[in-house]
Amino acid sequence: MRLYERAKKTLHGYSSQTKLAPVAFEGGVNELLQDADENWYIDFTSGTYCSALGHGNTAIAGRVHAQLLSLSNCHSWLTKVKLRVCERLSETLSERLNQFEFYSDGTTAVEAALRLVHLYRPSGSIVSFSGAFHGKSPGAAMLTERAAKGSLPVACDPERNEPNFVRLPYPAKGSGITQSELGRALINVPRPIAGIFVEPIQGVTGCIEPEDWFLPQLSGLCRLEGVLLVVDEIFTGGMRTGKMWAHIEEEVDPNVVLFGKILGGGLPLSGLAMRSEVADLLAGSSTTTTYGGNPVSLAACEVALDILSHPELQANVLEIENILRSTLSNLPLPIRGKGCMFGFDLSFDGSDVFRKLIERGVLTQIEGSTVRLCPPLTSRPEIIRIGVEKIVETIWEEYNLSARD
Ligand SMILES: Cc1ncc(COP(=O)(O)O)c(C=O)c1O
Repeated sequence: MRLYERAKKTLHGYSSQTKLAPVAFEGGVNELLQDADENWYIDFTSGTYCSALGHGNTAIAGRVHAQLLSLSNCHSWLTKVKLRVCERLSETLSERLNQFEFYSDGTTAVEAALRLVHLYRPSGSIVSFSGAFHGKSPGAAMLTERAAKGSLPVACDPERNEPNFVRLPYPAKGSGITQSELGRALINVPRPIAGIFVEPIQGVTGCIEPEDWFLPQLSGLCRLEGVLLVVDEIFTGGMRTGKMWAHIEEEVDPNVVLFGKILGGGLPLSGLAMRSEVADLLAGSSTTTTYGGNPVSLAACEVALDILSHPELQANVLEIENILRSTLSNLPLPIRGKGCMFGFDLSFDGSDVFRKLIERGVLTQIEGSTVRLCPPLTSRPEIIRIGVEKIVETIWEEYNLSARD
């Protein structure tokens, strides 16, 4: 609290969550976080989904330290670690997605994909879906339903409905949106369509899975009309759902896959995996950024890829999934999610639940009535059980209180 008083003089840039509880974090060990007053919290946020291989991961820290001592940045020059990461990533994806470009945050990777789509069909329509989250910078915000209203330049205001940015209904599981409804909406999109941006599971909006037919149908349409399918796996990629990539279990054939968060092992790293014919579109343009593909983040990514390739990690994710699913099923609410990625909607504003859980040593991500629970993949299942039991207990208390009002 004292730190927050002091910070009032200098610091801006808190999320709505952070404004709810004055906690200052100082350190962490795997799924636990410690605040400046030495209280411990079970972390169901993985440091906004990035520290998903655990806080204070010694393997990542050791490698990053060694890399820092030798080379921390050399712009877009080739480095051995960059080449190794390209080769390792391509082993995890379909063999056609074998060209890589690196950035340092998800939004910049989305902007890069927008640039690609524009180069491909300059005046074509660009499609995204209701509830989508692809970032908050002007271009990415055009794809994002949840972009901060009123905070974008007029030309980029999603409310203005720019003619070539089209948002279609997202057929969330159980939403009742049918294949033919989506088909009709797609027919009305002005042709040609240049690109379609889609999250295989909407993360930020609350871990919302689409109907099973959705991604294969989109992929089929893209093949038929030569549209670039951009699958945004910034949230889901890197075993969050129990699989290395969420789209791979579907019959989906993207032209571009976006990655970030987990793959950086807690350091800023994002990028695009592209088919070569798509990557060739970039030949005439300079698309680099200062920190994109820096050796330190790539070294962390290389260790992350090692960790992610261990079958024990996948088994751990599935064990956590079982604990989350079975414990959360004690709530009177529909629960969504898989792996280390769960969400649900309360029937009331969740701010008090969030604050109470902080007092009880559990950090969650609750925005309005939507709860997201994304613990590190390396979490100890017994600790997650303790945390999720506290979550269920606290929600029941608030639920009973709200029912009495
Ligand atoms: C699917 C998706 N795309 C893009 C972004 C933007 O990433 P960043 O916040 O790293 O800029 C996010 C962030 O949560 C995301 O979940």
